[in-house]
Amino acid sequence: SAELRALLVSRIRDVPDYPMPGVTFKDITPLLADPVAFNALVDALARLCTRHAATKVVGLEARGFILAAPAAARAHLGFVPVRKAGKLPGDTLGQSYQLEYGTAEIEIHADAFSPDDRVLVIDDVLATGGTAEASLDLIRRAGATVVGVAVLLELGFLGGRERLSAVLDGAPLEALVAV
Ligand code: PRP
Ligand code: MG
Repeated sequence: SAELRALLVSRIRDVPDYPMPGVTFKDITPLLADPVAFNALVDALARLCTRHAATKVVGLEARGFILAAPAAARAHLGFVPVRKAGKLPGDTLGQSYQLEYGTAEIEIHADAFSPDDRVLVIDDVLATGGTAEASLDLIRRAGATVVGVAVLLELGFLGGRERLSAVLDGAPLEALVAV
């Protein structure tokens, strides 16, 4: 709703020239620290889990964990972490993706899902879409169906939605706030 959006927007802080000159960082820590706004956010994400009939929630390390784990618990679903490479102890699947400078790699446990699992991916921010795109690849290779990607904040000018639309395969991209 417009009311929820206004509440969330009011608790996201612009930090100029971070992490480098000319870039404005969207800081969600004031939102996380506000019990009313944080609870409303977790509720909204849990409703998306229900609406899309998800059976598992995937959170993307690190900031995605902060939102995805409480949303999964509130929706009475299990949580599956996608981690930066080298952190998961079991057999993993890995996917590298492009950063502004260089590449990064994320991993998931190969046995995280059963074939009938329906996965909602949750992260804090959609920027270029590289992280989310890599996570979709991992989830599908691990044998599950992606039913959507949900983010708190979409940075529209970076084109993540267009990039993701090519790989979403009809699943929705839900952004609670878009700038
Ligand atoms: C940030 C953010 C998203 C991602 C979005 O994570 O939390 O996960 O970038 O960017 P993209 O759409 O261009 O891929 P980051 O890798 O900075 O690390 P963190 O979550 O571990 O803080
Ligand atoms: Mg992140």
